[in-house]
Amino acid sequence: MIRTNNISFSYTEYEKTEELAKADLELVIAAREAALSAYAPYSKFRVGAAVKLDNGLIICGANVENAAFPSGICAERNALSNSITNHKNEKPVALAIASMTEEGITEDYPSPCGSCRQVIAEEEVRIGNKIKIILSGRNKTVIIQSIADLLPMQFNRKNLRLP
Ligand code: THU
Repeated sequence: MIRTNNISFSYTEYEKTEELAKADLELVIAAREAALSAYAPYSKFRVGAAVKLDNGLIICGANVENAAFPSGICAERNALSNSITNHKNEKPVALAIASMTEEGITEDYPSPCGSCRQVIAEEEVRIGNKIKIILSGRNKTVIIQSIADLLPMQFNRKNLRLP
C-alpha cells in the first residue's frame, strides 16, 4: 500500500519582545548579551545562545569563527557544549537564540543551522525532555516546543539500536 503522510507543527509568534513571559524574556536578553561576545570577524554576524537549565541556571555561548571557515562553531553548539560539560546532571528546559549585525539586533529571528538542530536533538534525547526553542528577532519572537519540530525524522540513537 502507498500512503502520503504529512508533518506539521504549531508554534507561537510574538509580535513584540515585551509580550514574552518574564522567564522567556530573561533568556532572550541573555542570548542578546551573549551575541556581544561572539568572535565573528568574517561574517560580522554575531549569534548568541542561552540555555536555561532546570535548576534555573542560564548558560551562554556565542559563535566563534576561524580563518579556516569550517573550523568555526555556532553559538548554539558552544552553549550546549558548555552546559553539558559543566552541568551534565542539569537538564536544559529552554534555548534562546538571538543575532546581531553591525546595525544591531537583526530584524529577522535566527534559525538554528542543520548541524545545531542535530546537536540540540541529541541533547533532547539524552535528557528525555523537550527543549523549548526561542528564536528572537528585534521585535518578533517565535517559540517552538521541541527541536523535533525543526528536525523531523531525525537520525538518533534509536537508529543505532540504542535505548
Ligand atoms: N551561526 C550560528 O552561530 N548559529 C546558527 O544557527 C547559524 C549560523 C553563525 C555561524 C557563523 O559564524 C555565522 O553565524 C554566519 O553564518
